[in-house]
Amino acid sequence: MFIAVEGVDGVGKSTLLQWMGRYMLDNRIPVVRTREPGGTPTAERIRGLILEVTQYDPINPWGEACLFNAARSIHLHNLVLPEVALGSVVMSDRYCLSTYAYQGGGRGLDLGKLEQMHEIACNGVYPDITFILDADPKELLARQIARGEAPDRMELEGLEFQYKCRDIFLYFAQMYPDRHVIIDASGDIDSVKAQILPHLEAIKHKFHPQ
Ligand code: TYD
Repeated sequence: MFIAVEGVDGVGKSTLLQWMGRYMLDNRIPVVRTREPGGTPTAERIRGLILEVTQYDPINPWGEACLFNAARSIHLHNLVLPEVALGSVVMSDRYCLSTYAYQGGGRGLDLGKLEQMHEIACNGVYPDITFILDADPKELLARQIARGEAPDRMELEGLEFQYKCRDIFLYFAQMYPDRHVIIDASGDIDSVKAQILPHLEAIKHKFHPQ
């Protein structure tokens, strides 16, 4: 089984994934936690390239889309698919919806072309289930400021960019409702956990049916 967790920056994916991983281990379900961009040594090097780029040699939007897809293809073929074949539940912090949201929504690249790219790079492989953590970017920013956190990509790209990303996440959830679950992440972590728990219990039942 392959699960992805998606959402705009600062929505709380890491905390949730930590808890989901703990749930799997406590219930004797083989689990692999991973992330994108990255997840394998080579894909992590591509992550470094993307996130550490300088203003003197910037990456243009299609160049960026190619790098995210290259990292995803390597991650998928070297880690995700082999682990799924071994019977693990693979949980990834981000997958292809992030490219549709950030490069498609945020940067304005053509969604149809991005979907074609995904077909080519990743044989059109989609997670069995994608949890989309949804919250208003303005409120997330206010929370971040209240915690006194340093500005991250979210602040640097600006709120309008984050709203465009959010729209694409919600658009795909609406287009393909069988493989996406929207989680209301505007409340606290306990409310997010409560929404995810029934899905984890269903997975547990598959592994331990009695
Ligand atoms: P992430 O690991 O969530 O950031 P952080 O380590 O700061 O929590 O993701 C890195 C950034 O890359 C994030 O701003 C989203 C962006 N991204 C894309 O633009 N396209 C993609 O396909 C992916 C996977 C991530």
